[in-house]
Amino acid sequence: MLPNNKLLLYTISALIFLTSFIGMLFYGYKTFYIETTSATSKDYTHHFALIAEETENDYWRLIEQGAKEAAVENDIYLEYVAPQKADNEQLLRLFDRMIAAKVDGIIVQGIEGERFVDLVHKAIERNIPIITIDTDVKSSERKAYIGTDNFYAGELAGKTIIENTTGEQYVGIITGRFDAINQQERISGFKEAIESHSRIKIVAEKESNITEIGATQATYALLKENPNINTLVGMSALDGIGMVDGLQEITPNKDMYITAFDVLPETLDLIQSNEIDATIAQYPEEMGFESVEVMIDLQKQDLLENQIFTDTGIMKKQDLPKIHGEMR
Ligand code: BGC
Repeated sequence: MLPNNKLLLYTISALIFLTSFIGMLFYGYKTFYIETTSATSKDYTHHFALIAEETENDYWRLIEQGAKEAAVENDIYLEYVAPQKADNEQLLRLFDRMIAAKVDGIIVQGIEGERFVDLVHKAIERNIPIITIDTDVKSSERKAYIGTDNFYAGELAGKTIIENTTGEQYVGIITGRFDAINQQERISGFKEAIESHSRIKIVAEKESNITEIGATQATYALLKENPNINTLVGMSALDGIGMVDGLQEITPNKDMYITAFDVLPETLDLIQSNEIDATIAQYPEEMGFESVEVMIDLQKQDLLENQIFTDTGIMKKQDLPKIHGEMR
C-alpha cells in the first residue's frame, strides 16, 4: 500500500472509532443515567412525590392537576408517579423507591396491608412526611389524610336510593376493587344507610377494576346472574359510565335506578340524558391542591388537625347546570 493510502485508511478508521466511541458514551449515558441529585437543589424549594392508583385514570389526573397548580404557585417540584394499571404491589414498590430517592414529602393513596404501614414508618423515620390522599390508612403514621370521608359518601349513595325510589329495590353494586379501603368504606356506609330499610336489599357485588370496560362487563354479568336487580350503584369514578353500556347490552329497556360516583364530564352527560339518576360528587382537584399546601406546612411542623375531609355531596339532574359548567 502506498504511504498516502495508508494514511487515508488510518484516518478513516480513527474517525469511525471516534464516532462510535462518542455515540456509545452519549447513548449509554442516556440509557443508564439515573438522576442522583435532587431536583430541589437549584430551582425549587421542595421536591414532592404524588403516587396515584393508576397513571391515566381521569380521576387521578384531576388530583394531579390540583396538585400541580399548588406546586407551581409555591415553586415545588412535583413528581406524579403511578402503576400503569391499578396494582397494589407496584404502588408499594413506587412508594419504596420514592423513599429511597429522599424526596421531601410523599402524597400517596392509602392501601391495605401491613407493608404500607411499614413503608410509612420507614419514611417517617427518615423525616419524609407522608400524606394519604383519596384513601386513608388510619393505622399508619401518616401525617395527614386529605380526601373524601368515604364512609359518609357511601351513606349518601344509600340515601339517594332511599329518597328517590319506592317499593322493593334489588341492588347490584359495582365496586372499583374489593381490596381498596375507600371502596370498602363506601360499601360499609351504604350498607349502614339502607340497613333499616327492608325494601332495599343488596343482591350482589362485582369489581370493575376501576375501568369503564370492567364496569360494563361486571354489569352485564350481574344482570345476567340476577335479573331481579332494579338498582345499580357504582362506587368508583368510571363505574357509572360503564354500567350504562352494560345495561344497554343486556336489557336496554329495563327501568333501573342508577347511582354513580364522581363528577367526570361523561357521568354528568349521562345524568343530563337521564341515563344516570344521581352521582356522589368528590372534589379531586381540591384534594390535590390541598395536599401540596399541607405538605408545605409539614416541612416545618406537624399538624393539629390531621384528617382533612374535602366536600362530598349528592348530585342529580337539577343540580347540574351550575356545577356542570364549572367542572368543564
Ligand atoms: C376513587 C378512587 C379511584 C377512582 C377510580 C374514585 O371514586 O375515589 O380511589 O381510583 O374512583 O376511577
